[in-house]
Amino acid sequence: MKSCSQNTAKGKKVFIQTYGCQMNEYDTDKMFEVLRHENYFHTDSQEDADLIILNTCSIREKAEHKVYSELGRLRDLKTANPELKIGVGGCVAQQEGEAILRRDSNVDFVFGTDNLFELPRMLRKVHKGEKITKTQRYDRQKVRNFIPEYTYQKLQHSGIKAHLTITKGCNNYCSFCVVPVTRGLEVSREPDQIIAEAERLVSTGTREICLLGQNVNSYKANGVDFVELLQRLDKLDGLQRLRFTSPHPKDFHEKLADAIASLPSLCEQLHLPLQSGSDRVLRRMRRWYTMETYYQKVAMLRERLPNATLSTDLIVGFPGETDEEFEMTIEAVRKIRFDLIYSFKYSPRPGTRAANYPGHLSESVKSERLKILLEIQEKIVREKFQALVGTEQEVLIEGNHHRKANTAAGRTRGNHPVFIKNSTKKAGDLMTVLITKANQNSLEAVPSSAIYSPGI
Ligand code: SAH
Ligand code: SF4
Ligand code: F3S
Repeated sequence: MKSCSQNTAKGKKVFIQTYGCQMNEYDTDKMFEVLRHENYFHTDSQEDADLIILNTCSIREKAEHKVYSELGRLRDLKTANPELKIGVGGCVAQQEGEAILRRDSNVDFVFGTDNLFELPRMLRKVHKGEKITKTQRYDRQKVRNFIPEYTYQKLQHSGIKAHLTITKGCNNYCSFCVVPVTRGLEVSREPDQIIAEAERLVSTGTREICLLGQNVNSYKANGVDFVELLQRLDKLDGLQRLRFTSPHPKDFHEKLADAIASLPSLCEQLHLPLQSGSDRVLRRMRRWYTMETYYQKVAMLRERLPNATLSTDLIVGFPGETDEEFEMTIEAVRKIRFDLIYSFKYSPRPGTRAANYPGHLSESVKSERLKILLEIQEKIVREKFQALVGTEQEVLIEGNHHRKANTAAGRTRGNHPVFIKNSTKKAGDLMTVLITKANQNSLEAVPSSAIYSPGI
């Protein structure tokens, strides 16, 4: 296998800036793979690049603004190097299409979320001086078959942790969410292709795989459902950890809770997006579960695994959200005591139902509610982190602390970041540690064997 640096002399250099979720990160990896076949090599420097791609996100207005301000900054680079090509892909590209070319004349091509495998063809046209927009969707079969064309050929080391997209798109049309517009309807990949991709990842050094989908637990292809897919992946030799994100609460059932409790590689961790603690708001959000059923699902997990890590997504300031409805979110957070929450101020998105709902709240109300929520959660996290001190945890080492010598960095099965002092373990190693200290966002530990060593 030739190394990247040997090849860079001959090839061109590509810089890809990724915004948004893990799905976009996965797509960025795929773009690198596709472009490697066109003799493009990765660079970390925009100044050095022959090609810059922005892989964009439109989940909230702020995410979209970031793209346009970045394009503004790239103008100087293009002036300094007129040969530089600039492409915009991902969710903003899917939604805005050609409008991006009209808005910024420095952009050479725009491509949607189904079109990244057409990059080579687009680039050939771009190099002939054409401006290209490609945002059409493909039918289910073609999408299913498209993805593995390149993945089998990837030879490089894949990293200790890898994402693996198993479904694309979403059929749920939650009233606030732009994803069904930007990613299209849900398509599940063939199980054999997923297994083959996982095998390839493991054979190139990956020890932990996180399965991705917008509603990952509604996976179904060729008669294989999500839990059956997990069971097949769990049998892979060399795969130490398996995770998935995001499951939808309406599709979280006993069978999946049993799988988390019983499959050895499947980690004791669940991200179960709640969005709001009020039934009325949940109905307006079109989430199709109530607080009663959500509490039941949490109980389903905790009966089997009392210490499983539970995280969630919450939106504050949804149109028409009253003080009382917001209070119910606070109450849910207090009762459930999540280990981690991702909380967002509601942001109206084009093409979504809620954008036209009455009762939009002011920025100041949304900010105030977010602040209250974060303060409450901060205290819960502090207490939950503190409760881990003195426990033993299995850690998968991901590398070294970026500053401290002899300190390894990794994560527990519950996905807590841990720094281990006096450790000589390498990335990819598993070790048992004793948690010695809780910081705000991470834990400190020593190797478990060190407990018995004098002087520590
Ligand atoms: N498929 C996942 C969510 C993907 S988007 C699920 O169903 O849970 C990630 C998170 O962004 C969502 O869970 C939601 O909390 C947040 N989000 C989505 N649209 C939003 C909007 N318009 N304004 C604010 N937050 C939003
Ligand atoms: Fe968006 Fe809802 Fe689909 Fe999640 S389930 S991606 S929030 S529409
Ligand atoms: Fe953003 Fe698209 Fe993901 S909108 S959150 S990058 S699916």
